[in-house]
Amino acid sequence: MDVWRYTQSGFNEQDAVTNGNRFLVGNGFMGYRGTMDEWGREQLAAVCLAGVYDQNGGKWREPVNAPNGLFAELTLHGKPVALGRTEPSEHSQTVDFRRGTHSRDTRFPGVRIQSERFASMARPHLLMSRLAITFYEGGDAELKTGVVTDIWDINGPHLFGHTFNDGRVLMCESRTGELGIPVAVAQAADCGFGCGEKRKITDTGVYRFIRFRAEAGKTYYVTLASAVFTGMDDPDPGESALSLCEKALAEGYESCLKAHEAVWDGIWQDCAVELRGDDSAALALNASLYHLNSIAPRHAESLSIPARGLSGQTYKGAVFWDSEIFLFPVFVHTQPELAKTLLRYRIDTLPGALRKADEYGFRGAFYAWESQEGGVEGCTDYNVTDVFTHRPVRTYFRDKQIHISGDIAYAFWRYYEITGDLSLLKQGGAEVILQCARFYLSRTHLRADTGKAELLDVIGPDEYHERVNNSAFTNQMAAHCMENALALGDVFAEHDPDFVGSLIKKLDFEQDMELIRALLPKLRPTFPEGGLVEQFDGYFKLEDCTLEEVRGRVLDEREYWGTNHGVAAHTQIIKQADVIALAALFPALFSDETVERNWRYYEPRTEHGSSLSACMYALTACRFGRPDLAWEHFIKTASIDLAGGGKHWAGEIYIGGTHPAANGGAWMIAALGFAGLEIRGGELTLRPCLPKQIQSLRFPVTLRGKRIRVTVTHDGFSVEDA
Ligand code: BGC
Repeated sequence: MDVWRYTQSGFNEQDAVTNGNRFLVGNGFMGYRGTMDEWGREQLAAVCLAGVYDQNGGKWREPVNAPNGLFAELTLHGKPVALGRTEPSEHSQTVDFRRGTHSRDTRFPGVRIQSERFASMARPHLLMSRLAITFYEGGDAELKTGVVTDIWDINGPHLFGHTFNDGRVLMCESRTGELGIPVAVAQAADCGFGCGEKRKITDTGVYRFIRFRAEAGKTYYVTLASAVFTGMDDPDPGESALSLCEKALAEGYESCLKAHEAVWDGIWQDCAVELRGDDSAALALNASLYHLNSIAPRHAESLSIPARGLSGQTYKGAVFWDSEIFLFPVFVHTQPELAKTLLRYRIDTLPGALRKADEYGFRGAFYAWESQEGGVEGCTDYNVTDVFTHRPVRTYFRDKQIHISGDIAYAFWRYYEITGDLSLLKQGGAEVILQCARFYLSRTHLRADTGKAELLDVIGPDEYHERVNNSAFTNQMAAHCMENALALGDVFAEHDPDFVGSLIKKLDFEQDMELIRALLPKLRPTFPEGGLVEQFDGYFKLEDCTLEEVRGRVLDEREYWGTNHGVAAHTQIIKQADVIALAALFPALFSDETVERNWRYYEPRTEHGSSLSACMYALTACRFGRPDLAWEHFIKTASIDLAGGGKHWAGEIYIGGTHPAANGGAWMIAALGFAGLEIRGGELTLRPCLPKQIQSLRFPVTLRGKRIRVTVTHDGFSVEDA
């Protein structure tokens, strides 16, 4: 089995949507869905742009999809040859993880169409494809290709005022509706055949038509280069798109591909995990790391990754806690520059978080639950539509999921703990921590009778229970954030003794420091040895029924289990790891026995309705030495995008796409769980817990700027320079 390539043979129209995710190519700047060259809006063809958002009327604000510059459709004997409309005799689609390419090979009656494409890792604005068309019989053929505005949009359209240019390099320039951001897409084509080409502008794009008399047995090659620029990354997007297309074509497909592959090669040197013993698991892990790296913002200084990556507009293209808790760990251990890029996004969006806190009447930084550019809150008050009444349901994720600020502060602290590097804290991270601590200070209630500090009316990671009091996870995150606010002074004491003092002055934080010091012992939760941790006040009093019982109460497979009337809301059934996420993120607070006790209580009560859940259970099962319990969760996490798994609906809202958090989770299970890797202050420790299915794991990590390689087998482990 080739663990670096995933191929699907045969064609089933039902798979078109999930295949768009499975076979995506991307480079952080954009994601090109794994659709056929000849497909359009109906089959969800899209070029998803990172960090460019638009709102059309009162609809949800979402990221912008660019026009498709790799569109290509063949006509033979006057009839279009297109998958879905023309029955193929054979068809296969492949994604090559190592090279970062997508390919298809389809035999139609009379003709075979093969193509390969990539989103250049060497040049973030460039997409290229090469088509090879082989005719079994001669005849009149025409290839229609161009820049097509007929692309998938959920809450669009987002691009207006298209101006097309049908010069040698085709061009479509448009502007987004809300902010007027220019988006330019160009296409150049190289084809060594045909008797001239006609170009035409229509209301769906600008096209070139290459007519030729096809000879039986002959293969015709076409190379397409498409460049995408926006006003957010270039002062003259049109000009830049035009010149990049010409340049790429002049260099040729092979040479551009080589440059692209060289970058992928470097990426794999930094992060590939060699898993021996189970090829399907190795394939799934490669797929996970492929997807994660395809959407990592290498082109930017400050940008994060949306919850569904660059696979579409679902989840509004927004950045969630997924970035800090599930993606950041992979990058900080393998490609720390990317970890910094993700966290710089939070530094740069601090003003948005300060505004949000103020809007709710609090102080400090309350980060957006669904963060868009500049920290704009993309989460709406009505995030789910009821399948029975078709009415929007008031959800409280935006208002109450306050652990987000602590999660972000946690990642800044982890960056420092893992790398020993103070630079990120100095460049704004320390301010983020202080402002988040200030937010919790203003959000906490002090009870007059017990003297206890409480965080009331919140939502923890388990979203099925809204508006609860004293979520153990949330209280611990808030307390940790406050602890770190207090610890900043010590951390900088040696290298930059004045830094924290002047920051405190600048933020007028002196009195808050004192308040935090007094409040912390009253807020910090305690976790008695061997005890069950109650997820929130009153959780244990909820109906204790089985997952099957709750499933049996479901009337419509799309119905939402949370909010007031949800089937899980009044029971102990939870959507995702919550107490167990707490145990995974704060290992020092729980003995292995306590973790096990809680695991055994909560796991059967967890629906795993979020792709963020299983990895936390797998990680913690390794803590108490049960890799057998971790295995199933590992496979589920790592193969989510290959299997087309995960939920596709929340009520009536489509939420499908790739699952970056699970992709990150898969790496975490392998490296932090099965290998038991821990890096703290530049010191590396291993506590392996290999499942029987795995003979060995071998992977690089970056330790204080140096790449080292860890090998773990059932007989022991070793660490060497890589
Ligand atoms: C989960 C959240 C997660 C979001 C984006 C939701 O279904 O409950 O924890 O952040 O999806 O992945």
